[in-house]
Amino acid sequence: MDILIIEGGNRLEGTVRTKGAKNAVLSLLTAAILTDDEVTVENVPDLADVRTMLGILEKLGGDVVRADDGRVSVRMTDIPDPVAPWDLVRKMRASFEVFGPMLARCGKAEVSYPGGCVLGLRPVDIHLKGLEALGAKITTSEGYVRAEAPAGGLRGGEVYLGTPFGSSVGATRNVLMAAVLARGTTVLQSAACEPEIVDLAQCLIKMGAKILGAGSPTIVVEGVATLHGTNHAVIPDRIEAGTFVAAGAITGGRVRVEGCRPDHLTSFLDALHRAGAAVERGPDWIETQPRDPAERLVATDVTTQPYPGFPTDLQAQWITLMTLAEGLSVVTERIFADRYMHLAELLRLGAHIRRQGSTAIVEGTTALSGAKLMASDLRASAALVLAGLVSSGTTEVHRVYHIDRGYERIEERLALLGANIRRASGSV
Ligand code: UD1
Repeated sequence: MDILIIEGGNRLEGTVRTKGAKNAVLSLLTAAILTDDEVTVENVPDLADVRTMLGILEKLGGDVVRADDGRVSVRMTDIPDPVAPWDLVRKMRASFEVFGPMLARCGKAEVSYPGGCVLGLRPVDIHLKGLEALGAKITTSEGYVRAEAPAGGLRGGEVYLGTPFGSSVGATRNVLMAAVLARGTTVLQSAACEPEIVDLAQCLIKMGAKILGAGSPTIVVEGVATLHGTNHAVIPDRIEAGTFVAAGAITGGRVRVEGCRPDHLTSFLDALHRAGAAVERGPDWIETQPRDPAERLVATDVTTQPYPGFPTDLQAQWITLMTLAEGLSVVTERIFADRYMHLAELLRLGAHIRRQGSTAIVEGTTALSGAKLMASDLRASAALVLAGLVSSGTTEVHRVYHIDRGYERIEERLALLGANIRRASGSV
């Protein structure tokens, strides 16, 4: 297992280009299940999670062709056995999102019930409620969820997709993909509004689906009998872009993040503004402005919320920024109440953080000192790398396979910005 070794203290300077959005790509690839034509996705990042999804599609019978220029073509001519087993689903929760498309295409589907993860319990009740609203009969046994469409196929229905923690992104995608091939009209209420949902809907529309309202809490789908293939370029990864912006802001350097969508990051940019970080932006770029190292950011509270609120996927990175800010900041996690595995590791660098339930209280300090750290999940590992950039001495981040799930060659790209960071093998 690889580790990242960081010598902290360099101010970052330079330009980095945003890759395609991991969370959008995964569902665009599952959309290929809905047709026997070829679906080509452009700007696909080279990530462990993408390879996992392509492995699942191949196992289901798909032909996958990956070009060097980031294009991936998937053709699901036939799906002889619509089953996604445990060994595939346990690697990545997003694999559960093959459920809706397989049910729509094959009239039945069987997927291993996903377990919890370090972010918490993460149930799939809303996914199942949505598919039931389309007439599916759902049963659960031996760790598997099975769904069967009624005779004549799925039929449109109305379903509320909210949870006590906001709308479910995954459930919205799963039910949307089932609804596009259902007979009649489906109304999704309290649908997730994330840009990745809009991207998926736009791809489905190009495939012949009839969808109105994606990006708003009410999505209306008029089912069609078949879909055809398409070419679709995925949107830029807003979380990756935000992480690089955070790297510029925390080191007080000038980092220009190109090929991104600042309009997808308004809550994050607003928080940076409140924290006193000078940031410029254009239609497709964001640039942090250099800051005197003695000039600290100001403690700034954030609460994670569904889009367009502050993203939970930038919460860990925000906490790292606040460890060196002046004053007390209160960070409240409203999507995944237990998403705080990074706190204990940040304490090991000398950060002052207390946790009360789903709230972290960060008391900014003036210096962090490098240590050996254990990455626990994807975004938490990015937060630890950010902390390493500003800690004195050496920081080692172990279990970096987490970071490889969602950031393509992060150490090479940070090194190009002037960070002293390298990858080595042989960790715990
Ligand atoms: C997606 C993203 C993830 C992001 C999250 C929230 C992908 C691959 N992953 O995850 O990076 O952090 O959105 O923006 O796109 N819930 C239920 N019942 C359900 C489904 C969800 O109670 O059936 C709860 C969850 O436990 C959580 C909240 O709803 O508290 C939101 O979860 P959800 O939006 O479904 O997250 P994912 O789609 O899994």
